[in-house]
Amino acid sequence: MSDKVKVTIDGITVEVDNGTTILNAARQIGGDIVPPAMCYYSKLEGSGGKCRTCIVKVSKGSEKDPRPMPKLVASCRTTVMDGMEVLNITSPEVLEARAGVVEFLLINHPLDCPVCDQAGECDLQNLSYEHGLQQTRFEFERRTFERIDIGDKIQLHMNRCILCYRCVFVADQITNKRVHGILNRGDHSEISTYIQQVVENDFSGNVIDVCPVGALTDKTFRFKNRVWFTKPVDAHRDCNHDTCNGKVTLWYKGENVLRVTARKDEFGEVEAFICNECRFDKKLTADWVIEHPTHIDDTSVIASNHYETLIPLHVIQPNEALQAANEIELHKKVKY
Ligand code: SF4
Ligand code: FES
Repeated sequence: MSDKVKVTIDGITVEVDNGTTILNAARQIGGDIVPPAMCYYSKLEGSGGKCRTCIVKVSKGSEKDPRPMPKLVASCRTTVMDGMEVLNITSPEVLEARAGVVEFLLINHPLDCPVCDQAGECDLQNLSYEHGLQQTRFEFERRTFERIDIGDKIQLHMNRCILCYRCVFVADQITNKRVHGILNRGDHSEISTYIQQVVENDFSGNVIDVCPVGALTDKTFRFKNRVWFTKPVDAHRDCNHDTCNGKVTLWYKGENVLRVTARKDEFGEVEAFICNECRFDKKLTADWVIEHPTHIDDTSVIASNHYETLIPLHVIQPNEALQAANEIELHKKVKY
């Protein structure tokens, strides 16, 4: 049996390793045909299959058995077959079903983007803009919870949780002791530490980065600024922690580092998990070697106030890098 298979997604054919999921095959093609994913996370084993935002239509099962699949399938959980043909944005049926999924996700999620810390970098906000309906048909009361502090650095606002399980997988797979999870069943499900224990270990801060909505937020950054007013800059430091490579994004306002996050790839997933010392305790420019302004996708609201490198920054004395970045922004303003 060949190690490679061919799959066609929205008319574009790609050859991928046997066992690749439709979602990852689409990611290899890239662009608009990549299905959105609210629960799958490539760095977390077992993730996916919870939210159904990644659904696609398989119009031809394989070369050997060309029958279409009878229902829309979750692309993050369905592996490709040789000769498979898949429809995503070219299928009105998929787009209609995805709008339905968004409506379900928003049944309990508050429409509080103007006051939510995640606004501007929220996957659900983006998904609603692209696929959501303008009005909800839901007439009942939403589930509401009190905000709870899980430790002194992380706050959980369960109203916004979409139960994607990512934070649970992070706790299971990259921290040494999981003390939180999803309790109860169905409509009563909630993320909790049961008796509100503190989520405290060297990598607990990563639950903030993987949360696709504003349910888990960084208490050291909450309400300090809107993310689109900040300037993200890639930086690194020699971190003593075995499993942290010390490569981060610093979010500046003026000369102050307002927050530190892991770097994210083009699909909005962290490139490598970082430790809490880098995230919460290193908030001075002097703690870091600055590399360059972080690349922000043009479609993101953060790009509206963002500079890009027009001149190489070989650099780098931290203050020079910031000064160069400010000059570039000024240049953009003058130019446009
Ligand atoms: S708190 Fe965030 S990461 Fe955790 S399950 Fe809810 S939405 Fe997902
Ligand atoms: S990303 Fe596939 S079901 Fe959530």
